[in-house]
Amino acid sequence: MSVLIKNGRIVTATDDYVADIFIEGETISAIGKNLSVKADKEIDAAGKLVMPGGIDPHVHLDMPFMGTFSSDSYETGTRAALYGGTTTVIDFILQTQGKSLQSALDEWNGRANGTAVGDYSFHMAVTDFNDETKKEIKTFIEQHGITSFKTFMAYKGALMIDDRQMIGLMEEVKANGGLINVHATNGDMIDYLVQKHRSEGKLSPLYHYLSQPEITEAEASERFVDMASYTGCPGYIVHLTCEGALNAVRNATRRNQKMFVETCIQYLIIDASLYEQEDGAKWVMSPPLREKKDQATLWAGINQGIVNVVATDHCPFMWEQKLMGKDDFSKIPNGHPAIENRMELLFSEGVAKGKITLNKYVEVASTNAAKIFGMFPRKGTIAVGSDADIVIFDPKEKHTLSAKTHHMNVDYSGYEGWELTGKVKTVLLRGQVAIDNNDCKVPKGYGQFIKRNKVSQII
Ligand code: URP
Ligand code: ZN
Ligand code: ZN
Repeated sequence: MSVLIKNGRIVTATDDYVADIFIEGETISAIGKNLSVKADKEIDAAGKLVMPGGIDPHVHLDMPFMGTFSSDSYETGTRAALYGGTTTVIDFILQTQGKSLQSALDEWNGRANGTAVGDYSFHMAVTDFNDETKKEIKTFIEQHGITSFKTFMAYKGALMIDDRQMIGLMEEVKANGGLINVHATNGDMIDYLVQKHRSEGKLSPLYHYLSQPEITEAEASERFVDMASYTGCPGYIVHLTCEGALNAVRNATRRNQKMFVETCIQYLIIDASLYEQEDGAKWVMSPPLREKKDQATLWAGINQGIVNVVATDHCPFMWEQKLMGKDDFSKIPNGHPAIENRMELLFSEGVAKGKITLNKYVEVASTNAAKIFGMFPRKGTIAVGSDADIVIFDPKEKHTLSAKTHHMNVDYSGYEGWELTGKVKTVLLRGQVAIDNNDCKVPKGYGQFIKRNKVSQII
């Protein structure tokens, strides 16, 4: 099968030009002006942006969490991602404390293999680092192509590890060429504040926010950055939300340290005032939404090249599941749905409103994640030899977000009624038209597991 995309405005993290793209099989075989080739299918992209498929390196599909499971399966989640222009996601395997990393990988493979519609990879979340799990790190990197290891400094009593385990894991991961991802908030302090608010009868969603003040994130980020500096292990802070935490990273650059930073679309565009609404549980996530001044810091961080990736932390729950915490904020499953909305929200709120350039958009929505997590140049760019993962995007079309029309398996939208500028029109995944005219053209099982290379410390 061959495809010719004609006359599109090709935008990568570094380039912006009008040309044709010729695809043979799964990869791009030629790029040029007025290519004279015969293709099985031609797509006219005149007037449209042609960009690399989005990469969302932070999603939770079908994840057991807080007594329930996130509501998108690999099928519904990766399909919704494709509708929104994201062709590859990286999910988190969670180790069960007391069990091996391999047994968790087997469990996640059982969920994802043969069901994903879009491409996917895994980070391995280590919740119990000991002499046995230490031996598995090398195998994950060398044989499974899983080169990033997630740690939680929060969720005390469930997923959290202590600093002793963190240092040991960092040394092992560094020795084998991997990277540590971290959920950096102070779990002990949060646990104290949650119990304090509960004992005072302060049980509404607002107290979820008030139990995780900015200092809990700033302190843990600084501690993580210090431990990464000491061990020399490459680090990546997931879902960073606030000024205090970003300043911990800024400070580290003064001693020539490199730390990768991810924020998520929601932290850039919505704020903590939502917790005062009656349906505030919709936005209960960790860390919580922050203040307008934090949004300004995050946009600045993107333009300064300190915030490298805009992900989602997609972790959807049905409203019925959110109601598990109707009488106690600490029982509301933490998470927010956005896998389908990220690319369009970031374009509309970022590019169309003049906050970031088009090249920066591609960089933080696709290219940097591919580079940091060892998938570049197979993914994350438009170049000869790269996978033909391509989004054809109308930068002018206006549309409205709604749970009535989205494809995520969740019965509300955090962005109900938002009017956006810019819409995904056609998506190709490894040379196949996956989305066209608001219709999914590839079946369950089309998505492939992407083995990743050792991580890059340079982007
Ligand atoms: O609220 C969140 N973020 N839920 C998913 C788990 C995590 O901490 O990333
Ligand atoms: Zn987290
Ligand atoms: Zn997460």
